[in-house]
Amino acid sequence: MKTKPWAGRFSSVTDKLVDEFNASISFDKRLYRHDIRGSVAHAEVLKKAGILTDKEARKIVKGLKEVESEIEAGRFSFGIELEDIHMAVEKRLTDKIGPLGGKLHTGRSRNDQVALDIRLYLKDEAYAIVSLLHELKRALVEIAEKSADCIMPGYTHLQRAQPVLLAHHLLAYYEMFKRDTGRLSDCIERVDELPLGSGALAGSPYELDRNLAARLLGFSRVTENSMDAVSDRDFIVEFLSAASILMMHISRLSEELILWSSQEFGFIELSDAFSTGSSIMPQKKNPDVAELSRGKTGRVYGNLISMLTTMKGLPLAYNKDMQEDKEPLFDTIDTLKIILEVWPPMLRTMNIKKETMLKATSAGFLNATDAADYLVKKGLPFREAHHAAGQAVAYCISRGLTFDDLDLSEWQGISKLFGPDIKDAVSIERSLNTRKVYGGTAVETVKKRLKAVKAEVALGCC
Ligand code: ARG
Repeated sequence: MKTKPWAGRFSSVTDKLVDEFNASISFDKRLYRHDIRGSVAHAEVLKKAGILTDKEARKIVKGLKEVESEIEAGRFSFGIELEDIHMAVEKRLTDKIGPLGGKLHTGRSRNDQVALDIRLYLKDEAYAIVSLLHELKRALVEIAEKSADCIMPGYTHLQRAQPVLLAHHLLAYYEMFKRDTGRLSDCIERVDELPLGSGALAGSPYELDRNLAARLLGFSRVTENSMDAVSDRDFIVEFLSAASILMMHISRLSEELILWSSQEFGFIELSDAFSTGSSIMPQKKNPDVAELSRGKTGRVYGNLISMLTTMKGLPLAYNKDMQEDKEPLFDTIDTLKIILEVWPPMLRTMNIKKETMLKATSAGFLNATDAADYLVKKGLPFREAHHAAGQAVAYCISRGLTFDDLDLSEWQGISKLFGPDIKDAVSIERSLNTRKVYGGTAVETVKKRLKAVKAEVALGCC
C-alpha cells in the first residue's frame, strides 16, 4: 500500500521501525500554525503565478484553516506514518478537499518548507523571549531602586573586597541582560529572511513571487541563494549561542541567590511561594528555582553543542541530519520561557536583609584599599601605600581588631603620613562614595545610572 506522498518509486512499504525512527511529527507538530501560515502564503503565490485559479486558492486556504481548527480542537491524529507536520497537514487537506490539495506543493519542497516554518516559529518565540527578558530587567531595576541605600560587601575570589551598593550589584546583571537582549535582537535580524521559493535546493522552475510571500509572512527580505536557504541553520546556532550566554548570566545570579539565602550569608530570604521544603528535614527552605535554573544551564549549553555538531560535517544542501535541529531548539525555547517567567516574581518577592548586608561590610577590611589610597593622596607611591595598608591589616588581625578600633598613634606606628582624618577616610560610606567615577558604585553615580535604566526599561527598548 502506497500511503506516503513520495511512495511512487517504491514497491514495498516502509518498515515499521523506519517509520518510528524517521518520524519527527511527535515534536514538529508544534510548528502546525506556522506550517499552515506558510502554506496559505504559498497558495497566494501559486495563484499569482497562474498555477492555481482564484477559486482553487480559496478552497485550499479554507481547507487549511479547517485543518488548523481541527488541530486546535485536539481532533487531529498525528500518526507517525506521515513522518512530519508538513505531510500530515497536506494529507489532511487532501482528505478534505480532494486531489486539489495535491496542487499546493507545486514549486515547493519540504526543504524550503521546513526552513520557512522554523524561521517563522523562531521569530515569534525570540520576540516573546525578548519581552520576557524585558520583564526580568524591569524587576531588577525596581529592586535596585527600592534598595538604593543598601550597602553590601562586594567580592572578588568570593572574599570580601570593597563595599558596594546592592543596587550596583543588581544593575551589573541589568547590563548583562541588556547585552543578551541585543544578541537576541541581532539574531532575529538574521532569522528574518524568507527561504520559500528555494525548492529542494536549486530554486523553482515556476514564476513564484518570493517578495509577495515575504510580505504576506512579515519577512523583511528573501534569501539570496537557494542552496544556502535550505541548508542554513546558522540562525538556530546563533539563537542557541545567545540563549547559552543568557543562561550563563541566569546561572551566575542563581549562584548568588543560593549563596545569599544560606545561613552563612543571610543576605536575602526568598518568599515561601518561591521556595521549597525538604521531605525529611522540617527546618529546610530551599532555593530550588535558582538551583534548577543553574542546573538547566547545562542542557541549554548541551543543545548548542549538539546543534553545532550536527551541522559540522554536512555537505550542501539538505540532509536528514538537519531534522535533529528541532528538539534542541524547542527545548531551549521552553527552558528559557519558564525560567524568564518564574524569575521576576521570585525576585520581586524576596526579602532583602539590609542590616545583615551592611553588618557584613564591617569585618574583612573592605576599606583596606581606602587606607592605601589615603597614603597615595599624601604623596606615597601606590605600591608603598599598599604595603603600609597591608601592615595595618596584619596589625589588626593579630590583635583581633578592625580599623575602627585603631587610635592615631597605632596608625602612625605604621606610617607617619596617617593623620586624624584617617578614621573618616576608611569609613564604609566614604569608601563607597569616593567611587564616583563613571560606572562606579558611589550613591550619586548609581542614582544617575538608575535614572537612565529606568527610562530604558520604560521604553522597553534595551
Ligand atoms: N521533517 C523534515 C525535517 O525536519 C522535513 C524536511 C524533510 N525533507 C526531506 N527531503 N526529507 O528536516
